[in-house]
Amino acid sequence: MDADPQPNALVGKMIRRADKDREASAPSSLLKSAASHGDASTPAATIAAEAAATIAKSFPGRRPAPTTMVVFGAAGDLTKRLVAPALYNLVRGGKLPEGFALIGIDRNDETTEAWCGNLTNMIQAFARAGGGERQALDEKAWSWLIDRMHYMPGDFTQAETYGRLEKLLSEQSGRQGGTAHVLFYLAVADRFFGPVIEQLGRAGLTRQSDKAWRRVIVEKPFGHDFASAEALNTQILKVLSEDQIYRIDHFLGKETVQNILVLRFANGIFEPLWNRDHIDHVQITAAETVGVEARGRFYEKTGALRDMVPNHLFQLLAMIAMEPPISFDADAVRGKKTELLQAIHPISPENAVRGQYGAGVVLGKNVRDYRHEADVAPNSGTETYVALKLGIDNWRWAGVPFYLRTGKYLSARTTEIAVQFRQAPYALFRDTPVERLPPNILMLRIQPDEGLSLSFSAKRPGADIEIDGVEMNFAYRDYFAPLASVGYETLIYDCLIGDATLFQRADTVEAGWRAVQGLIDAWAGASAEDFPNYAAGSAGPAAADRLLARDGRTWLPIRADHRHAERSA
Ligand code: BG6
Repeated sequence: MDADPQPNALVGKMIRRADKDREASAPSSLLKSAASHGDASTPAATIAAEAAATIAKSFPGRRPAPTTMVVFGAAGDLTKRLVAPALYNLVRGGKLPEGFALIGIDRNDETTEAWCGNLTNMIQAFARAGGGERQALDEKAWSWLIDRMHYMPGDFTQAETYGRLEKLLSEQSGRQGGTAHVLFYLAVADRFFGPVIEQLGRAGLTRQSDKAWRRVIVEKPFGHDFASAEALNTQILKVLSEDQIYRIDHFLGKETVQNILVLRFANGIFEPLWNRDHIDHVQITAAETVGVEARGRFYEKTGALRDMVPNHLFQLLAMIAMEPPISFDADAVRGKKTELLQAIHPISPENAVRGQYGAGVVLGKNVRDYRHEADVAPNSGTETYVALKLGIDNWRWAGVPFYLRTGKYLSARTTEIAVQFRQAPYALFRDTPVERLPPNILMLRIQPDEGLSLSFSAKRPGADIEIDGVEMNFAYRDYFAPLASVGYETLIYDCLIGDATLFQRADTVEAGWRAVQGLIDAWAGASAEDFPNYAAGSAGPAAADRLLARDGRTWLPIRADHRHAERSA
């Protein structure tokens, strides 16, 4: 193996990013970076150069070794929407090695020219969607990538495909001075994960040597329950070693998710309060304003619980609740996350609510009910919303409820974590009973209004002692230059440099599934009689409110912009 993987310094890396971002947002450095790209005469070129400089500064200095990336599912949606734009952004940031090549494989019998043509149309639309002039297509960067792209038609299930791939890879290795590092990216339907990896193994393509590491990125969903996730791990671990497998959870590619660890472990003020003595409860919300869109076929057998909870929401839960790792090495961090997920108390149906959207109005638009969506059964029992109350069986969290909720077609799009602290034990102020003091809430806003706020009590100016809730707010956009990112840049880059911190380990995935398995079984055995039970555009089913009311608590309102949160007056 080459000496590529190096100890991960997630926090160090992120702090460096923050410093550099701040530099990047200073006008003088922006002008300099634009000028260094040659053409600073047009605003679009200047802006494209600025963006490229910002991306460049957001990654650590190291360039990956020459690598060939092979994308299975090259003609698919994921490649178009996420993988190609992420590669384009990495090129703009100068983060791909000169000896980089991209081989796309898919069933469609098309040429490299046609494949590149399709992706070019898409990337142009992607650049436009990024904000017109601000995101003019960086032709130089895109041609750099196009020149290194090759399309190979092939059936993923046929050995013959892998024979041809082997030949292409050895030709490529010749061009890369004998190195043969290969990253296989499985952007394919989950039923192909096992078969493709087996075929790669049979063709000898997963064998590693000093000058040839072989890594595989596996997309979501990794299994559809505990047994299938475990079986898939067993199947692929016969071919690959754990350190060759990079299981994606795209939530971990989000800057604000990564920042949770920095917030907790690079600041002295939070950790002493981070336990059952000071925290009353935690709410984790991932609210969406999209419905099932064109994914009815997938969603019908998946539902909100499988789609969002054991993966995305549990990643947020693990980041917020895990014990401090002894270092920021991939295994130290992932070990602590796994322990946390293993400590989730089995979830009983009494502590869970499922919902399905009926017709309604979302962001001013009339939308139809779930049962009338394409590829959805007219009497579908699939949930599009789920709310849970979780307990974590360890000394830090015993007795502290974690409330999780996620749903499609809710009133606003927001992903956030609210940590609510215990009330002051005694109210000093006459006429203000302690339960009327506004609670202290630390709100971590993951998206779209990225930032953090802390609410607390303050005295209203005036002769009387009147207490009001106020808020301190940090918004990313006020401090850091915005980063052109689809969220996959970090993940692909980290895989290229052999840093697995932001990827799921086999035991982490299994722990997530194990925690929800009882609920999956209970819901499979009892259909929900009240579906549809929330109107599209609402905050979800009434039963979710009752889940918290039972404990004398309420959900925080779902809203996209948290600044100037409600005041008590
Ligand atoms: C995906 C789910 O994994 O995550 C989707 O399959 C969901 O149903 C999406 O919409 C949410 O991700 P994001 O990044 O848009 O919050």
